[in-house]
Amino acid sequence: MTSRTVTVTDNTTGKRIEMPVREGTHGPPVVEIKDLYKEFGYFTYDAGFTSTASCRSDITFIDGENGILLYRGYPIEQLAEHSSFLEVSYLLLHGELPTREELDAFNQAVTEHTMINESLKEFFDGFHYDAHPMAMLTGVVASLSAFYHDAINLGDPGNRMLTCHRVLAKMPTIAAAAYKHMMGEPFVYPLNRLYHTENLLNMLFSRPTEPYEINPIHARALDQLLILHADHEQNASAATVRLTSSTGTNPFASIASGCAALWGPAHGGANEAVLNMLHEIGDVSQVPRYLEKAKDKDDPFRLMGFGHRVYKNFDPRAKVMKQSADEVLELLGVENNPTLQVAKELEKQALADPYFTDKKLFPNVDFYSGIILEAMGFPTAMFTPIFAVSRTIGWISQWKEMITDPQLKIGRPRQLYQGVTLRDYTDIETR
Ligand code: ACO
Repeated sequence: MTSRTVTVTDNTTGKRIEMPVREGTHGPPVVEIKDLYKEFGYFTYDAGFTSTASCRSDITFIDGENGILLYRGYPIEQLAEHSSFLEVSYLLLHGELPTREELDAFNQAVTEHTMINESLKEFFDGFHYDAHPMAMLTGVVASLSAFYHDAINLGDPGNRMLTCHRVLAKMPTIAAAAYKHMMGEPFVYPLNRLYHTENLLNMLFSRPTEPYEINPIHARALDQLLILHADHEQNASAATVRLTSSTGTNPFASIASGCAALWGPAHGGANEAVLNMLHEIGDVSQVPRYLEKAKDKDDPFRLMGFGHRVYKNFDPRAKVMKQSADEVLELLGVENNPTLQVAKELEKQALADPYFTDKKLFPNVDFYSGIILEAMGFPTAMFTPIFAVSRTIGWISQWKEMITDPQLKIGRPRQLYQGVTLRDYTDIETR
């Protein structure tokens, strides 16, 4: 705590109070307002949390003005180039990069939990064939809470770490099972000799009828995509996981609430929405018409995969992802895919249009991740589940940080009530 303060004056009563300013290690200082109500009788109002820190955290830092994203202090660009998803998972969870021995032990600890209970597998049969995989994922992840009663003593560090390993290990298996159900194909069990991301590819795309060879280009591009999406500070889904977890609820139920929040098209559902939009545009000749629609205030259409609440210059993940998308498209030789041609043309024309550049609306990570996943042959409905597989480590790391914070309080926002004031009940015959 510093001695820096902000003075707030109530111009009606003349009352003044000093509010302490807390300094983080990076980012804007934060005015601590918890005494405002006690002193002034006022709440604060900040719809959408545009100026409000909802918690303190040591995990991920974003500087939206300068396009900086750090996991535990390490720039995302360096991690994407040199690290692996499991190493990044260790970093997010434990705070430091692992030694070789620590990484091997972590890999082993996570890999042990890749299977899901056979009864849980049966849950998929209850879903209709055309259920969205995010609906299945969210439901089945919530159902994990009915299975692992042995390790839900949240006060026990061993229980907490076991839960983290379980969530991280089972999410790819559940996502792949949702995909197989959607495709009407038999589930593929995890193969623990494979690395995490290769295992995911194998569970998704191998079939009992023929051998499946993991394409190393796919494996590396997917691993990088998982690294880039692994955590992102207090986004809607992480904030949801924190709010849910603040009640002390079952951690699997909390992670399911994160899945539900992620699904929306303004958040993790954007990558699917990008491809749906590209399919709707259909042809490069239609790009100008859709750009006009996006600019028209009377038209609800927005360019999916453009803009970001925090990044107002560029999204550093999108920079890495664009390079990866260009490489993947070239290596896979899919330049003639009409959807991807529309994507390239849309990017080119939007970046040359002052409406988008003046409003700082640049392609975000989901624009390019959608393109990569499309090029790799993922059906669009699977884009958000893949995002969830990645973001799970961010959610569970923030969960672990939060429940061990001595300042933990149940999250309980207040409101600006604008409804009808007190009135008396009237009998139905007299209304
Ligand atoms: N297309 C067209 N116009 C847009 C877009 C867009 N994608 N995004 C913002 N704008 C315009 C708004 O109409 C608004 O214009 P105005 O100032 O003239 O009224 C201005 O830009 C600011 O937009 P806001 O909605 O206020 O910005 P906010 O920060 O609240 O929203 C968001 C950010 C939700 C990401 C928004 O840009 C959007 O809807 N983008 C498309 C969905 C998307 O790609 N989401 C993924 C985010 S990344 C992730 O979750 C990993």
